[in-house]
Order: sequence, then C-alpha cells, then structure tokens
Amino acid sequence: MNMIQCNRWVIVTSPTDRGDDPRDQVRAALRILEERHPDTAFRTAVLGGSGTSVTGALDEATASGATEIVVVSAQTVLDRKIDAWFRRVIGHWLRERGTDAPEVLLAPPLSDTANYADLLDAAITAPPTPARTTTAPLTSPAWDEVPGFARHVLVCRGPRCSARGGPETAEALDYALEARGLGDDDVLVTQTGCMFPCSQAPVVAVYPDDTWYASLTADRVDRFVDEHLVDGRTVTEWHGDRRRSAILEA
Ligand code: FES
Repeated sequence: MNMIQCNRWVIVTSPTDRGDDPRDQVRAALRILEERHPDTAFRTAVLGGSGTSVTGALDEATASGATEIVVVSAQTVLDRKIDAWFRRVIGHWLRERGTDAPEVLLAPPLSDTANYADLLDAAITAPPTPARTTTAPLTSPAWDEVPGFARHVLVCRGPRCSARGGPETAEALDYALEARGLGDDDVLVTQTGCMFPCSQAPVVAVYPDDTWYASLTADRVDRFVDEHLVDGRTVTEWHGDRRRSAILEA
C-alpha cells in the first residue's frame, strides 16, 4: 500500500467479499498502478460482507486528507443493480459527511473501455488450464456436524447496514466475544446479506430467542453481549419490531 500523503485516492470496489478483500489479482494490479501513479493512494472495498466497506474506505481517504476520490468497480462487466447500490451508498456517505466531503468521482465500467474485446481475446487465447476432478470436494468431516452453539447471532452486512455501522458492529462483536472467552460453540456469529429492515441499520438478530435489534451500533455491543448473550436478558429498549407471520400466529 502507498503510505505517502496523497490528495487523490482510488477505491476499487467489489460487490461482496471474496475472503477478506477483493481477489489477489486485484491487489496485484493495484501494486502495478501504485508504481505508475505514485501520487495516488489505492484501496479495495466491498459493498457487503467482510472486508473494508465502501464507506470505511471513503472515511479513510477523507481522514488522510484526500481531496479527490475516484471509485472504480473491479467487475469487468457492469451489473446495473450492483452499480446502483454503490451509487446509493456513496450518496448516503456524502449526505452524512456534509460540506467537508472531498469530491467523489465514479469511473466508467471496465466494459466501456475500448480494449475490452482485447481483454477477452487475451483471455481466450492465453494457455488454458484444464478443469480437474482432483480439486477439493464440497464435503469434509470437519463440516459434518452443526456446531453446538447456544445462540446464533446474525449480523447484517447487506449494503445499507454495511454503509451505516454494520462493519464496526461486527468487529466489536468479535472483540467482545473473544474477550469473554466465547467461541463458536457458545455463540455462532454469521454475517448475512440484507435482512430487510434496512432503515433500522445496523441490524442484528439472535436465535433461537427470535430477538431482533435495531441500530445496534458498535458502542452498544458490550452491553448487548453481557446482558443478552451472557446473562440471557434481552435489551428490550433496542428491540426492532418484527412482523408476525400468519404461520407463527396459527
Ligand atoms: S442491509 Fe441490513 S437489513 Fe437491509
């Protein structure tokens, strides 16, 4: 990563996580770009899932003094729905930042570049790799059993929650559970896609208690863990309302 002070930042985005960040190939490409553009800082960010969120990367750029931020999608082909999500998240971030926000520019999709056909041509004419039956199987003895957790905590990392505190909540929850010696067999934490009540972001649900929390920001996590996950008492003032399904009411 480029550690010098840069006024111009480029954030390369990916719709979901692929591990901790976009693929190694993206990072390798960024290293080349850093050499070509030593006055520009490059970062990767994801719309949802684990890894640096788009708003987190925008915050980092702003904190470092960036005056211009260019956001470019690492997707080779434009997905209009995902593109709309990125625009919405960035628009939200600009509104929240107000007048101290740097200028944020959106790069055109990679498929709009004139040499896109050349990229495809290079891919299909490069030496191919045969698909094999010796790749890792989809099953393993390690995945035979459902863990013995007492509670399953669902932390929303959909696009809106990811833009409004979800990553910080997920990180605070990891720290809080580790600090109390609670592992997967006590509390299983799963980061999810959108769970629907986006206006209540960041959203967290606890099962089998069937308890949903609204606006469970990182600063509320310690109390949530101590009262709900350790003592078994739900924090009623942070509850999110849940519609009751006709099946449950029957
Ligand atoms: S993004 Fe979290 S509920 Fe929709």
